[in-house]
Amino acid sequence: MAAEKPSTMKAVQYDSYGGGAAGLKHVEVPIPSPKKNEALLKLEAAAINPVDWKIQKGMLRPFLPPRFPFTPVVESLLRLPTFLGVSVISDVAGEVVEVGSEVNSFKKGDKVVGLLSFPNGGGLADFAVTTVAAMAIRPPEVSLSEAAGLPTAGLTALQSLKAIGIKFDTPNKSSNILITAASGGVGHYAVQLAKYAGLHVTATCGARNIELVKSLGADEVVDYKTPEGAKLKSPSDKKYDGVIHCATNIPWSTFGPNLSSSGKVIDITPNFTTIAASILKRITFSKKKLIPLMLVPKSGEMEFLVNLVKEGKLKTVIDSVYPLSKAEEAWAKSISGHATGKIIIEI
Ligand SMILES: NC(=O)c1ccc[n+]([C@@H]2O[C@H](COP(=O)([O-])OP(=O)(O)OC[C@H]3O[C@@H](n4cnc5c(N)ncnc54)[C@H](OP(=O)(O)O)[C@@H]3O)[C@@H](O)[C@H]2O)c1
Repeated sequence: MAAEKPSTMKAVQYDSYGGGAAGLKHVEVPIPSPKKNEALLKLEAAAINPVDWKIQKGMLRPFLPPRFPFTPVVESLLRLPTFLGVSVISDVAGEVVEVGSEVNSFKKGDKVVGLLSFPNGGGLADFAVTTVAAMAIRPPEVSLSEAAGLPTAGLTALQSLKAIGIKFDTPNKSSNILITAASGGVGHYAVQLAKYAGLHVTATCGARNIELVKSLGADEVVDYKTPEGAKLKSPSDKKYDGVIHCATNIPWSTFGPNLSSSGKVIDITPNFTTIAASILKRITFSKKKLIPLMLVPKSGEMEFLVNLVKEGKLKTVIDSVYPLSKAEEAWAKSISGHATGKIIIEI
């Protein structure tokens, strides 16, 4: 039976920067209405990503308008701060309960998984509206938790491999890839996708996760807390043609000696130093490249990942599952930086 729509819903929100898990509040709010290009979802599961609490910390603050009122392009810029006081989280799995007049790709009753439109978020709630730009149907073979973990982390892993030049529709030439923080949300999908693409994978993680990362397919695994791990050296002394860099705070100088002559490092947590180094590599025509990457939501890629899970070729490692009433615990776990796989909220 299709999910019904009451007038108010439970949601978890924050209304100022900072505060961590203690800054989250449980509230009862009106259910949003979809615009003509949006769908209303009855949410069933959501996943927490580091970006969710980084936004709360104010780490995207420089991109907000400097002061208000701010007149030009009023609609979009004045809407940016509305994620304060609006429930956060963008990775969701749920059921379509209503669609706008311009939505043709989904209908009421469809089970879907995808990303809510950034920056409005809304995933820590009973219902959320979203554009359908990054949604895919969730088949019954793919559980709610497996599905909810996929959007941000899975798409980032897939797009990082593509940024190195890896193909998923034709065979690849043999390549040696390094994946840092391979036990994390992005890293554990990257290991599996790299093996699916036929690559040789070296991975870094903490000692406690070495067997897990090997079981995901990594050929060589290094404990990042050992001297060899800190240098990112391959145990078999292979140079890397590509690095999916999911850890943070590792300087470029650590990568350089380990790269093949045209090796590429995909940095998924770029900062000003990374961007400056990336520009320098371009203007000096260096064959070794540092490429900052930000996820671009794409429905086709979402469908590709969901199908791989359905076929048993990709799995979501679940760190932990919390009910919405314990969202603070899930939030704190993500902030700790020690998740293994994905942190899921069941709604
Ligand atoms: N560009 C984008 O669009 C995009 C998208 C998604 C994520 N990101 C960013 O990518 C980063 C990773 O995200 P995530 O969701 O994968 O994080 P995560 O799940 O929180 O990662 C946690 C894991 O990383 C491991 N780890 C931490 N430092 C490490 C190191 N130096 N070497 C090896 N392993 C290490 C931890 O192992 P231990 O517990 O053993 O320490 C833990 O298992 C975050 O900074 C996130 O903001 C960017």
